[in-house]
Amino acid sequence: MSSKTKTLQIFLLYTLLFLIQLNVSSGQTVVKGAYWYWDSGFPASSIDSSLFTHLFCAFANLDPNTYQVTVTSSNSAQFSGFTQTVQQKNPSVKTLLSIGGGGNDTIADTFASMASQPSRRKSFIDSSINLARSYNFHGIDLDWEYPDTTTHMTNFGTLLTEMRAAVANESQTSGNTELLLAAAVFHSADYYTINYPIESISNSLDWINVMAYDFYGSAWNSSRARTGPPAALYNVTASQVNGDAGITSWIEAGLGADKIVLGLPFYGYAWRLLNADEHGLFAPADGPAIGTDGSINYKDIRDFISQNGTQTVYNATVVTNYCYSGTTWIGYDDTESISAKVSYAKQKGLLGYFSWQVSGDDNNWALSQTASTTWG
Ligand SMILES: *[C@@H]1O[C@H](CO)[C@@H](O)[C@H](O)[C@H]1NC(C)=O
Ligand SMILES: *[C@@H]1O[C@H](CO)[C@@H](O)[C@H](O)[C@H]1NC(C)=O
Ligand SMILES: *[C@@H]1O[C@H](CO)[C@@H](O)[C@H](O)[C@H]1NC(C)=O
Ligand SMILES: *[C@@H]1O[C@H](CO)[C@@H](O)[C@H](O)[C@H]1NC(C)=O
Ligand SMILES: *[C@@H]1O[C@H](CO)[C@@H](O)[C@H](O)[C@H]1NC(C)=O
Ligand SMILES: *[C@@H]1O[C@H](CO)[C@@H](O)[C@H](O)[C@H]1NC(C)=O
Repeated sequence: MSSKTKTLQIFLLYTLLFLIQLNVSSGQTVVKGAYWYWDSGFPASSIDSSLFTHLFCAFANLDPNTYQVTVTSSNSAQFSGFTQTVQQKNPSVKTLLSIGGGGNDTIADTFASMASQPSRRKSFIDSSINLARSYNFHGIDLDWEYPDTTTHMTNFGTLLTEMRAAVANESQTSGNTELLLAAAVFHSADYYTINYPIESISNSLDWINVMAYDFYGSAWNSSRARTGPPAALYNVTASQVNGDAGITSWIEAGLGADKIVLGLPFYGYAWRLLNADEHGLFAPADGPAIGTDGSINYKDIRDFISQNGTQTVYNATVVTNYCYSGTTWIGYDDTESISAKVSYAKQKGLLGYFSWQVSGDDNNWALSQTASTTWG
């Protein structure tokens, strides 16, 4: 073998190693995420994990007496097997154990009382790390909805700082890769004027999941009387709450864009129109047209549209889809809205996007596929 050939071979080997390296590190520079919820009726084994880099297993509970993180016995098999299950279709997908959730105020009260005392925080932190490790998760996601006083926000910051120190210590002691730490937060950097602890968030979390949805809902007193874009990206009047204003507030508060992950709803809200002929945004309405809270999964919206010959509209100015048939009006995100939002996230230099929740997508993974392809 000539020395020239050998040099070429070595060159090719190093090029290959470089490309492998590049591929590994780029796998960690984006979050293409989705939540899976134990009570959705959708088995984790049905998730097409190839469309995601990170999956959140929701939710573990917070014991109001011991402040330890627990999983109910009926959920323990699903939760402990989650990582192995979803890695069958994508061995490199990362999983996070989500703790808390927005379902009820009791959970928020328990979070507040846990975060208020050092011994309670330690109990919470140690048990969450133990549980995450014993179930083979790659990280922990805190879902406190919401810290709503300045004291709660300060305590939340302390909790995050202590939690980062604890996962770093655990990693050094065990020799395992450090657990990822994330948190699901309000769409804005302040919760109705109460500011989030930006410095602790910035120093302690790998990223935040910004819940940029639930701006308008048909069952809420504030918005039941008019249709509305449930998760608009932009506003046309100053009073119109929107995702861009929320993301901008996080960046202006001092958080790096590369720590922000944009939330996408895989559901919408159905209003009952007062007049079938007035069917635009902010048309007169009278509460939910479906169920008690008006919410409806994307996959059920698609069925509603195809079975009822429903009119569909995409409003690119505010970035929302809506559809109407008779006096039923549904605001939601279809592929156009998802694509526009993911382009926005990328263009703003955000870390990625996540959806709530994976079971809402249609049988062809239309929304998850659109999001993944749009990001590239
Ligand atoms: C709220 O959450 C707590 C703690 O997980 C639970 O014990 C309680 O049953 C829940 N209440 C409702 C109304 O769901
Ligand atoms: C660090 O980890 C060790 C071993 O898990 C544990 O005993 C110790 O309490 C931890 N220290 C802190 C400050 O968390
Ligand atoms: C919503 O409005 C009804 C009727 O005015 C009132 O009874 C109820 O307390 C309100 N609910 C909230 C959460 O404000
Ligand atoms: C949209 O809202 C922002 C604040 O969130 C405000 O500064 C801006 O003026 C609003 N745009 C319009 C067209 O009202
Ligand atoms: C079609 O509309 C009717 C009347 O609103 C509703 O009862 C039915 O559930 C809709 N079909 C689907 C598939 O949602
Ligand atoms: C989009 O919605 C806004 C109301 O929020 C309206 O002013 C605008 O005309 C709509 N655009 C289109 C193309 O329908």
